[in-house]
Amino acid sequence: MDTSQTYEPLPAEPPPGCPFSPPHAYTRLRVEHPVTRVTMPDGSWAWLLTRYADIRSALADPRFSSDVNAPGYPRSGMVTAGEGGSLIRTDPPEHGRRRRMLTRPFTLKSVSALRPRIQRITDRLCDEMADRRQQDGPDGSVDLVRSLALPLPSLVISLLLGVPYEDRALFQSITATVLSRVNTEAERTAAREELRAYLARLVAGKEENPGDDILSELVHDRMGGGELTREEVRGTATLLLIAGHETTANMIGLGALTLIRHPRATAELRADPTLMPGAVEELLRFHSITRSGPRRAATADVEVGGRLIKAGEGIVCAVASANRDPGQFPDGDTFDIRRRNAQHHIAFGYGVHQCLGQSLARAELEIALNTLLARFPELRLAVDFADVPFRSDMLVYGCHALPVTW
Ligand code: HEM
Repeated sequence: MDTSQTYEPLPAEPPPGCPFSPPHAYTRLRVEHPVTRVTMPDGSWAWLLTRYADIRSALADPRFSSDVNAPGYPRSGMVTAGEGGSLIRTDPPEHGRRRRMLTRPFTLKSVSALRPRIQRITDRLCDEMADRRQQDGPDGSVDLVRSLALPLPSLVISLLLGVPYEDRALFQSITATVLSRVNTEAERTAAREELRAYLARLVAGKEENPGDDILSELVHDRMGGGELTREEVRGTATLLLIAGHETTANMIGLGALTLIRHPRATAELRADPTLMPGAVEELLRFHSITRSGPRRAATADVEVGGRLIKAGEGIVCAVASANRDPGQFPDGDTFDIRRRNAQHHIAFGYGVHQCLGQSLARAELEIALNTLLARFPELRLAVDFADVPFRSDMLVYGCHALPVTW
């Protein structure tokens, strides 16, 4: 790949004053250069895809590899959840074999059975949130990210995996470091090592004392049966932990903030909670938190959107752009909980790697937002909107903190 040329940088920042918008450059690129070369933060270049149809066709095309070690894979600033060899970085046919081992706990049926437990966890976190505000006095505010958005998915995935609740603080700090754009590579490597060591201990513990959880099943049925190595079990646990909590946490925070900013939609949802599933799809589309999302490397020459992508070249699929593409979502910059086709968004990716945990994420979002609306009818921001700290410095978009009151 020619690395000597420099191109327009990969758009990253939302437009000033518009934290809910993807970078403005996408609007122009979708029209003028829907498949274009961009310079990545490390100085290398990759193809940036911005149109819905092009991104879906690329993500469905087996000639694009998810393997970070494939020549040309755009690694720069890349999410490290799941190193080489983990499900999300494995190509078919091995990918299908791995994924089948994990599907059962994440099916719609399994997730439906889990809903009462998710509701109980949510109720308890909301009780604690109310207590905390009580202690702080009537003018007190509570950080919704720390009180609900982060602990809820973290507790749910810890429960599924069999990770002790006491370890949650450790996980949140490690994953934040692993995923951060501002931490140095050395800090990220140290955090990955810490997580690796912890999970190795946890896997060893499950061999001795199995429980009714995903990790115990992987250790006993798959590792015991020779289908997975110890390293692969540990890698799978890492992926589920990181993929399962950072993303959903940010969507809960952004979801709550969006509802606060759209009182008419919120009133409709309060009056009719059955509208919530549609609102969740719209929130996923509108925010598309893995903004310059899935990346791939071409393993053969492939034509996408009229441009030839050569074997050994990388692509970056801007799902945040695809999900605002007016060709697919008319008036896509408007948040509309009654949008007819919101569920066709690709915030969970597309093709064989489409998010394994999407039913779980949807359930957590619906329960968290419905509970917030019911419990705190007067929920509002405790700071100016302009002072909310957004995570444009992180790979998964969201808010660092969300001070609320009611
Ligand atoms: C709102 C929350 C979430 C969002 C926006 C999200 C987004 C995504 C995206 C875009 C992909 C595709 C990556 C690619 O094609 O390279 C993906 C894959 C994946 N996600 Fe999620 N995710 C969310 C929640 C979760 C949860 C709760 C879990 C599990 C507990 C999870 C587990 C996974 C796994 C295991 C994969 C890899 C699947 C494969 O490679 O076959 N995600 N997710």
